[in-house]
Amino acid sequence: MTNYEEINKQCYGARRTASVYVHSILQMPEVMIYVKYRDEIAGSRVLDIGCGAGRTAVFLSKWAGEYVAIDYSCEMVGECTKFCRGVDCTFGDVRDMSRYEDGHFDFVNFANNGMDSLGHEDRLLGLREIRRVLRDGGLFSFSTHNRDYVGAVKEPDFHFTIDPFALMRRIVRYHRCTRNRRRDRVFERSEETYEIINDPAHNFGLITYYITHRHLAAQLEEAGLDLVETYDLKGNVIDMAKPCTDSSWLYCVARKRA
Ligand SMILES: C[S@@+](CC[C@H](N)C(=O)[O-])C[C@H]1O[C@@H](n2cnc3c(N)ncnc32)[C@H](O)[C@@H]1O
Repeated sequence: MTNYEEINKQCYGARRTASVYVHSILQMPEVMIYVKYRDEIAGSRVLDIGCGAGRTAVFLSKWAGEYVAIDYSCEMVGECTKFCRGVDCTFGDVRDMSRYEDGHFDFVNFANNGMDSLGHEDRLLGLREIRRVLRDGGLFSFSTHNRDYVGAVKEPDFHFTIDPFALMRRIVRYHRCTRNRRRDRVFERSEETYEIINDPAHNFGLITYYITHRHLAAQLEEAGLDLVETYDLKGNVIDMAKPCTDSSWLYCVARKRA
């Protein structure tokens, strides 16, 4: 584990971070994907990795024949267990899912860019584990940060307000952002096939993996997964022949090659 992967894990382990995820609002591309592939989810064996506080568990656990949720943050597992009573949610890391047999799951979900908190080598390890636990032809649904996106916020910003309470909150937030940015900018790097960026999420508290959809398709293929389709934030299918510059996230569906 690199230093920054530990920083990301600590961020997701914090109570303040976990509380942000206690809700059940699906994003538009997730709705498109879950509806389109509902026949492959309904009654099947579903693994929800990085389940957080249970946002997707609320839906997937009802449709699945067997539903298992894992997260490497104990705080998230605690929130999920409270939020989704009766759901099988335990501590677990995508990099080591040895407790599950080869080919056990029909559908694997890793929502909301959870995979992007891993460094390059660990991401590849996670993809190999996901492929292993999927049955041949099984589906993998996930999202990731888009390297082609042109509107990304790069530095903490401050907007003045005359509301004294809001101003106080903004000062505290700005202080957190600049402190984290100072700590994390040293981890940023640009490689040919991906980029590591100190992301504005959680007050610049995450160091995040960014990739273009072309390189993502190649990365998945190398891991034995075929990219079926990719959606933008508005729920439109992305044209793979052109760079996608107006969506910060890519929502992908991949299928395990036999
Ligand atoms: C952005 S949150 C999303 C939570 C939830 N899936 C949602 O959509 O609301 C990412 C989640 O992935 C989890 N995560 C990140 N890396 C992980 C890993 N290596 N193994 C398991 N969970 C991981 C984090 O703890 C966090 O709960």
